[in-house]
Amino acid sequence: MEKQRLDKIIASTGRFSRREVKLLVRQGRVLVDGVPARSAEDRMAPETAEITVDGERLAWRRYTWLMMNKPAGVLSATEDGRGKTVLDLLPEELRRRELFPVGRLDKDTEGLLLLTNEGGLAHDLLSPKKHVDKVYYARTAGELEEADCRAFAAGMVLGDGLECLPAGLEILSAGAGGSEALVTLREGKFHQVKRMLAARGKPVLYLKRMKMGNLTLDPALEPGEYRFLTEEEVALLRNPR
Ligand code: URA
Repeated sequence: MEKQRLDKIIASTGRFSRREVKLLVRQGRVLVDGVPARSAEDRMAPETAEITVDGERLAWRRYTWLMMNKPAGVLSATEDGRGKTVLDLLPEELRRRELFPVGRLDKDTEGLLLLTNEGGLAHDLLSPKKHVDKVYYARTAGELEEADCRAFAAGMVLGDGLECLPAGLEILSAGAGGSEALVTLREGKFHQVKRMLAARGKPVLYLKRMKMGNLTLDPALEPGEYRFLTEEEVALLRNPR
């Protein structure tokens, strides 16, 4: 394994920024293999170096996994000449890690968006074969009814020929003035929730992704905020129960 700088290794855990590492090292709070680090620029093999901060062992992470509460008005792309992307919401240090969004949310859709630089697992999460459910909260025009739930459960072929796998539709509230529901999809075709509900004559007015597999959007995250996934959360993604 190639040697890496101490500040990079520690920053990979998401606990401290590189700037903070510099300070911690100066204060003598970082030990490498039991010896106080001399400089944040020291190089070592990240897999084998035993690094502690204030006595607590830090586990190096090869890949970065973030959970973001995507705000409306931002594109879930890595770059786009036409507007602001979710990567623009991250600090420079994270933008350098070649992160990409795991799947796409429409520009006006909010909610749970994972960002990573681990291609293999990201690909698995998006494959319909892996059965990773995505749950969306939707507000619609019109009154959702049982017939809509049955149509979703049966799988739909839309007017434009789009074939949709069976999906869940749980009505939370319904009235002539509008409805609220949870939609569960196993796939992620372009505008799929909007197109399925529009096909039932109940166009989406607001859409937010709440869950992806075992992960639920952290309610502490305001739109535009993100946090690192914990090691347990990444393990849940890797080995869905
Ligand atoms: N379905 C949609 O229609 N839009 C999204 O952003 C996600 C799922």
